[in-house]
Amino acid sequence: MKIACIGAGYVGGPTMAMIAKKCPEIEVVVVDINEARIAAWNSDKLPIYEPGLFEVVKEARGRNLFFSTDVGKHVGEADIVFVSVNTPTKTSGVGAGKAADLTYWEGAARVIASVSTSSKIIVEKSTVPVKTAEAIEKVLRRNCKDSSVHFEILSNPEFLAEGTAIEDLTMPDRVLIGGKDTETGRAAIASLASVYAHWVPEDRILRTNLWSAELSKLTANAMLAQRISSVNSISALCEATGADVQQVSKAIGTDSRIGPKFLNASVGFGGSCFQKDILNLVYICETVGLQQVADYWNQVILMNDYQKDRFVQRVISAMFNTISKKKIAVYGFAFKKDTGDTRETPAIDVCRGLVADGANVCVYDPEVTDDQIHADLTQQTYEWYDHPNPRSAPVDKKAIGISHDPMEAANDAHAICILTEWDEFKHYDYQKVYESMHKPAFIFDGRNILDHAKLREIGFIVYAVGKPL
Ligand code: NAD
Ligand code: UGA
Repeated sequence: MKIACIGAGYVGGPTMAMIAKKCPEIEVVVVDINEARIAAWNSDKLPIYEPGLFEVVKEARGRNLFFSTDVGKHVGEADIVFVSVNTPTKTSGVGAGKAADLTYWEGAARVIASVSTSSKIIVEKSTVPVKTAEAIEKVLRRNCKDSSVHFEILSNPEFLAEGTAIEDLTMPDRVLIGGKDTETGRAAIASLASVYAHWVPEDRILRTNLWSAELSKLTANAMLAQRISSVNSISALCEATGADVQQVSKAIGTDSRIGPKFLNASVGFGGSCFQKDILNLVYICETVGLQQVADYWNQVILMNDYQKDRFVQRVISAMFNTISKKKIAVYGFAFKKDTGDTRETPAIDVCRGLVADGANVCVYDPEVTDDQIHADLTQQTYEWYDHPNPRSAPVDKKAIGISHDPMEAANDAHAICILTEWDEFKHYDYQKVYESMHKPAFIFDGRNILDHAKLREIGFIVYAVGKPL
């Protein structure tokens, strides 16, 4: 069996590396049009930072795992083609700001059709709107010159989270495969299931129809994000009443019907998918006339924007309503720990908000590159729709400092904002940090990861999300 995967990104790279590791008899080739990305996958410095990934890649690379820019050749030879291209939010035209942009997906489908001389299973790995398989099937069928070639489309959405991708791929809660209830559909599902069965227990391989699989992916992300927005909404109430959101999360999470995971109040959720996928869900609901359902899910995003904005307001009001010309150290820029990814990170809106109010920020993040931080803060992000957060306008590069040393970042600062939950932040010598800062020295813990009692003993004024002062 030969597998090709179109798209060597955060999903295509790690998922294919895991398949190659677990299935040494299958040849797996990951193809991409981005030459620099493919070169990086073939080097010792992979294009994405993900704990444990390099070991998996190293084990299989050159044996049965290959990375190539020759899209046509490898797709043409494959029996199974995964499509793991980006499906961002549309930036113009009908549905701009909400609908999924399927340009890359359709482009990939057209390439598959043009190079196929044998029948193939086409696997939707990207997150796509429900019913995409129907559209893609038409593109494939109408563009393939060889009428004897049969394309069987499956939906196999990916549920890995960044930072824990290898763990998630090694022991997935489930693998979801959607396909048609026809002879060829069932055979294709069995064929893909046999790949995962190399390491995933049979009872974790779920089989559904195509539309359920497509919609389950959007729903899973919407439900996860909704939990965070729910707990974040309660964090605001905690701050107003003296309740402690961590105690509330623990108390409700012990109810087995609610469960303890994903109840950490924060400065807001980020990442490339939660907002994009909810917007996509909202758009789909609107197009089928379900406005109330659309409004319900849109509120998850509005609450997230409110949470980021609230964090900025709190910094400003705590610091006597003036942060003008004050240095504020920002610890963490990635959207979560153990990744260098900054897509939709709350740090963008928070840093922009602080700078808009006159502060000078100095960012320290163990993984994010300087260029990425500068680009994220100075380039226009939301030109294509009315983002509800007016603070999120790009800011001047002059107000942004970047340091590769957390001590230096805090030196002479008036405040520290913790925006990512990197473990190393818990272990700094905060006595030393305190001594190097202006007084009163503030810490705003946007992730509730520090020992607040100890920091207060040192002399810091500590504000944390949803915690009493
Ligand atoms: P990404 O942007 O990191 O990677 C996509 C890759 O596809 C890029 O390298 C791009 O060059 C390539 N590409 C685009 N069109 C191509 C074409 N025609 N031929 C060859 N290569 C092409 O994206 P990602 O984060 O890996 O996400 C991919 C999909 O998976 C998205 O739909 C996303 O919603 C979904 N997803 C992402 C995650 C995540 O953690 N990032 C998790 C689950 C699902
Ligand atoms: C998320 C989902 O968890 C994956 O299942 C899904 O496959 C993926 O999106 C996707 O489709 O892209 P990811 O965005 O990588 O994964 O990371 P998460 O761990 O879900 O975190 C998302 C954001 O929520 C981060 O900013 C994180 O800090 C925040 N978060 C998470 C909280 O604020 N509180 C929590 O309790 C949990």
